[in-house]
Amino acid sequence: MGAHRRGPWAHLTIALLTAAVLLPRPAIAETLTLACSAVGIELEMCRTGADAWAADTGHSVEIVSVPNGPNERLALYQQILGAGSDAIDIFQIDVIWPGTLGDHFVDLTFHVDAATRDSHLPAALANNTVDGRLVALPWFIDVGLLYYRSDLLEAYDRPVPATWAELTETAAAIQAGERDAGNDRFWGVVFQGRAYEGLTCNALEWVASHGGRFVGPDGTITAAGAPVVAALSAVSGWAGTIAPPGVLNYDEEGARAVFQAGDAAFMRNWPYAWPLANAAGSPIAGRVGVAPLPHGGDGGASAATLGGQQLAVSRYSAHPELAVDLVRHLTGLREQRRRAIEAGFNPTHASLYDNPDVVAATPFIGTLRAIVDGAVARPAAIAGDRYGEASAAIWDAVHGVLSGDTTAQTAADDLQRTLQRLSRGGRW
Ligand code: GLC
Repeated sequence: MGAHRRGPWAHLTIALLTAAVLLPRPAIAETLTLACSAVGIELEMCRTGADAWAADTGHSVEIVSVPNGPNERLALYQQILGAGSDAIDIFQIDVIWPGTLGDHFVDLTFHVDAATRDSHLPAALANNTVDGRLVALPWFIDVGLLYYRSDLLEAYDRPVPATWAELTETAAAIQAGERDAGNDRFWGVVFQGRAYEGLTCNALEWVASHGGRFVGPDGTITAAGAPVVAALSAVSGWAGTIAPPGVLNYDEEGARAVFQAGDAAFMRNWPYAWPLANAAGSPIAGRVGVAPLPHGGDGGASAATLGGQQLAVSRYSAHPELAVDLVRHLTGLREQRRRAIEAGFNPTHASLYDNPDVVAATPFIGTLRAIVDGAVARPAAIAGDRYGEASAAIWDAVHGVLSGDTTAQTAADDLQRTLQRLSRGGRW
């Protein structure tokens, strides 16, 4: 057998070598760690998005599930970042955290081209820009929405409530009717009533829709104002009457569990609850509507708190360039389109609000866009490092009113004093 003769295996070797050349395998495959929260199907969406990037690049991504509660999650992040640890390369961060955590993140300004920058809603980018540094890329925008049972409003011949007083009345009427019909567990309304950041979001909506604020845009403390007292009075009797007593401990998923089981007429929640409520197997699929939240009586207008999540790259990452690449993929147009269609995550790319597939998945997207444009920010930028304490003061005060421990007026007066002290008279 001559030395120049090739056997069948030689062809196979050549074929394998060609494949290796054609596939862009990295010289060294790295593993990135990505911290995602896990509300609804959030973790699964995070994983499938990261897996797609890993399949394209040959690297791998380890998903670290972090607490859903914003307070617990922030404390964990501060611990990791404060220690300068490289344990997590990419952090999912709340819209209220760029100021608090921004120093620990890579400036993405020069890692994003002009087309990408122009594609995001300007307010979302502005929120993530701290002292001229782009510390995170926007991933999705949250706004507070009113979910209602369309079948029950029809059966009871009621319109979608425009004011909080109407909501209270309609919730009570439907609750009474459903209980008469045999559902002892039925309640009028569910929302996020636990003493945590989510309650601050709900409370801001109640107050702003009465024409007020706890903290004005210039930092002035307005927590004892008439709109705050009116808003807190409007909701003070809810827990244990039209809302379950357990609402005092509900977060987003706590509220959704009751609503999705078919045991509540109304729910306040973020957009992610829409596809879940309508998913195959959901007891209320096809019987849900979404509308702007109600407002206070005279002079009030519906208000939604601005929430949402961003992705940031740790300065302590051992692979910052790769991490930036993964962040660009996850926050990019294609991935946001997938997330909007499959999981209701509200995009930060303006063009997706007109995308036919996104519109088909979220029929109320037009309303949603208007709500996003008018959303009310929490006073995180003005309060800076004191935002955490300010928000805790707000949720404690509101929780006291909801649980009947204090009156709206007393809570508002106490909160005014606490915020005055915390902000050094509104100077922050
Ligand atoms: C959602 C929002 C976030 C908010 C939190 C409150 O995660 O995106 O901005 O702080 O809910 O629970």
